Amino acid sequence: MADVRIERITKQFGQAIAVNDLSLHVRDHEFVSLLGPSGCGKTTTMRCVAGLERPDAGQIFIGERDVTTLLPRDRDVALVFQSYALYPHMTTRNNIGYPLRLRGMDKPKRDAAVEETAMMFGIDELLERFPRQLSGGQQQRVALSRAVVRQPRAFLMDEPLSNIDALLRVTMRAELKRLQQQLGITTIFVTHDQVEALTLSDRIVVMEFGTVQQVGKPLEIYRQPANLFVARFVGSPPMNFFEGELRSEAGETVFVSDMLRVPVVAPRHAPANRVTLGVRPESLTVESAPSDGATRAKIALLEPLGYETIVHATIGSDVVRSRVADGEDLAVDQDVWLRIGSELLFDTQSGVLLS
Ligand SMILES: Nc1ncnc2c1ncn2[C@@H]1O[C@H](COP(=O)(O)OP(=O)(O)OP(=O)(O)O)[C@@H](O)[C@H]1O
Ligand SMILES: [Mg+2]
Repeated sequence: MADVRIERITKQFGQAIAVNDLSLHVRDHEFVSLLGPSGCGKTTTMRCVAGLERPDAGQIFIGERDVTTLLPRDRDVALVFQSYALYPHMTTRNNIGYPLRLRGMDKPKRDAAVEETAMMFGIDELLERFPRQLSGGQQQRVALSRAVVRQPRAFLMDEPLSNIDALLRVTMRAELKRLQQQLGITTIFVTHDQVEALTLSDRIVVMEFGTVQQVGKPLEIYRQPANLFVARFVGSPPMNFFEGELRSEAGETVFVSDMLRVPVVAPRHAPANRVTLGVRPESLTVESAPSDGATRAKIALLEPLGYETIVHATIGSDVVRSRVADGEDLAVDQDVWLRIGSELLFDTQSGVLLS
C-alpha cells in the first residue's frame, strides 16, 4: 500500500486541455473522490495515474517511486472501470483469479484467495458461472473482487457503480465503504454523483475545467464551499443564491437585495463588489404567518418525498427551494414567510467564499 502524489500534471488533447496543472496528494489508506461535471478531466487524471495516458508535464509518484514513465503493469495499481470488462469465456473463479495466475501463483493458493474475496462480496455461490449468467451488479462484484484479490498498492475506480440500478447502487456503495475500511487500500474514486462522493470519501476533490476547485472532507465541502462553483455543484436540491450588496446599518452588517434584507455575520474581508448570499434549502424555514425578519413568498410547487418535502417558493421573480420535514399543511399558491437560518457570502465577481 502506498500514497499517491500527483504533481502539477497537464494533459492536452490537441487544443483541448483536459487536465491543467493539477496537483493532489492522496495519503496512504485514504479514500479520495474526484467529483465534477462531465468533461472536467476526472477520467484523464485517473488514466494518467494508471499509466494509460502520459501527461505532457508533471510527475506521478506511487509510494516513493516516480511512476510517470512506467508501464501500467509496472505500477501495481488495480483499475475498476464503468464497463467491467470481464473475460466472457472465463468463470467467475477464473476471472477473479486471473491476476494471480499472471503472477504465477499456484492453483490451491489462488483458489483460497479467490474464495475468500468472493465471500467478502457475497458471490461465493457464483464461482462456476460465466459472466453472461450474472446480473449487472454481480458482474460488478466480480470486477471488484478481481481488483481486490491482487492486494494492489492503490485502487483506481472510475464510476464503478454507474452501470447498476439505483437500489443495488446503494447496497454496493455501503459495501465499498465497508471494504475500504476493512482493507485500507489507498483509493482514488471517480464519480459525478455527489451523494456517492459525500458518503464514501475521506476527502473530496471538486474539479472544473481540468483544475482543482477545492479539496476537503465531505462536510467541509458541503458547509464551507470555497467558491460559487463548488457551492452550486454540491448539494441537492442546490443552494439558493441571492445577489445584492452589504450595508452597514447601526453597527450591523445587512445583506440587501431587491427582495431581501438579512442581517449577516460580517465577512473578514469586506468585498468591494456585489455579493452573493447562499442559503442551503435546509437553512430556509417556511412559516405560515408573518413575523419580524421573515420574507414573504408564494408556494409554486411541492415535492413530497416521504421523509421530507421540497418546497419551491417564489420571492418576486426568484424561485427558492426549502426542505421541510413536515409539509402536509402546505399548499400551492399559499403565501408563506421564509426565514434564513444560516448563510454563506460569496464575492459575486470572483465567486470566492467571503465568510
Ligand atoms: N482521447 C481523447 N482525445 C481527445 N479529447 C479527449 C480524449 N480524452 C478526453 N478528452 C477530452 O478531455 C476532456 C476531459 O475528459 P475526461 O474524460 O477526463 O472527463 P471526465 O471528467 O471523466 O468526464 P465524464 O464525467 O463525462 O466521464 C473532455 O473535454 C474530453 O472531451
Ligand atoms: Mg469520465
